[in-house]
Amino acid sequence: MPAGASSSKAVPVAGPDRSRAQDPDPPHRPVRPRPPVATLAGLGSALPRRVLTNHDLERMVETSDEWIVERTGIRERRLAAPDEASSDLAAAAARRALADAGLGPENIDALIVATVTPDSPLPSTACLVQKALGTRRVAAFDLAAACTGFIYGLAVAEGLIAAGRHETILVVGVETLSRVTDYRDRTTCVLFGDAAGAAVVRPARSPGRGLLSVYLGADGNGGGSLYIPAGGSRLPASTATVAGRLHYVHMNGQEVFRFAVGALALSVRRSLEAAGLGVKDMDLLVPHQANLRIIDAAARLLRVDPERVFHTIENYGNISSASIPVSLDEARRRGRLRPGDTVVLVGFGGGMTYGGAVLVWDGPEEADDH
Ligand code: UT7
Repeated sequence: MPAGASSSKAVPVAGPDRSRAQDPDPPHRPVRPRPPVATLAGLGSALPRRVLTNHDLERMVETSDEWIVERTGIRERRLAAPDEASSDLAAAAARRALADAGLGPENIDALIVATVTPDSPLPSTACLVQKALGTRRVAAFDLAAACTGFIYGLAVAEGLIAAGRHETILVVGVETLSRVTDYRDRTTCVLFGDAAGAAVVRPARSPGRGLLSVYLGADGNGGGSLYIPAGGSRLPASTATVAGRLHYVHMNGQEVFRFAVGALALSVRRSLEAAGLGVKDMDLLVPHQANLRIIDAAARLLRVDPERVFHTIENYGNISSASIPVSLDEARRRGRLRPGDTVVLVGFGGGMTYGGAVLVWDGPEEADDH
């Protein structure tokens, strides 16, 4: 983010209004469980090399390792190199997911990239990834649902497969949040990191295994709790927006926290319900990693044993749309995913968006470490 621009007139903080997110339990249409049409045939992730520890942050803002660990569970996060953009991480994760599925770029039918930190507004990051991978001229587009982006991407991929339009769809969640993080703001800079996670979504191959359900929700009333004020059509970039530090993430942490706990619990329940299952049927919960206290509070509400909840937040912080696929990939590599396991993926994020997916794992038991 350019720094040092001369200060000028105060810039009105644009963006969503200040209305609050509502109770995330709207009336819903009951969904009848049905056999899976799609499955995850391969997983891959890419994490930048550079590690930013809590102790590093102690030298940048007034904070402490103790505060960060106690309030968030985060110990370190990864940051992209200056020349590493979202599409670079996304392409690396995609190559690993394809190799894991035993496929090549020539097999890809469509490419969905969930991100709020695209390389640039135009062209889409998905088109850049398509070029980097050297796929055929297949459909490629970005999807903006913040930290729930990967779940939204799975829903779209599942729908495209169900409609018979595409067979092999790459869904990537990627973020370079360090590019929109204000490293002078201790309330946000301790949280975010950079990473990409990818999945190859294919037609279901064995009865009862694959994506049993996807549940999606959003509440635009909560948009003002987590947003980037400038750089869009409401408040285009100017020297004033740069001076006002309006290209960074602004967040009301407590608002988001409150919303997140309810939205996580609701999304787990609703997605399980849509699959004809209950919490007791879930072998592993892979939630969006924003704060360990949010995850613990939602697990308590659901009465889920902590052993059944997977986290990576200690090492990667909040990596938004990459958080679920990276965690799923890591769960598998740590031997936590066995064929036939029922896994619930669940997210929430800016928008506010939320959602969950129930997956009966039918991929390989473990992948090579990379
Ligand atoms: O992907 C979705 C995106 N975001 C989230 O899910 C975030 C959800 N919210 C959160 O995770 C938490 O609200 C935070 C981690 C952001 C903050 O934790 P909190 O327990 O809600 O803290 P707080 O905002 O209530 O602040 C408590 C105190 C304040 O000091 P005073 O006013 O009590 O003197 C803050 O100024 O902690 C202070 N504080 C810090 N102190 C040391 C805030 N940030 C820091 C910091 N280091 N980094």
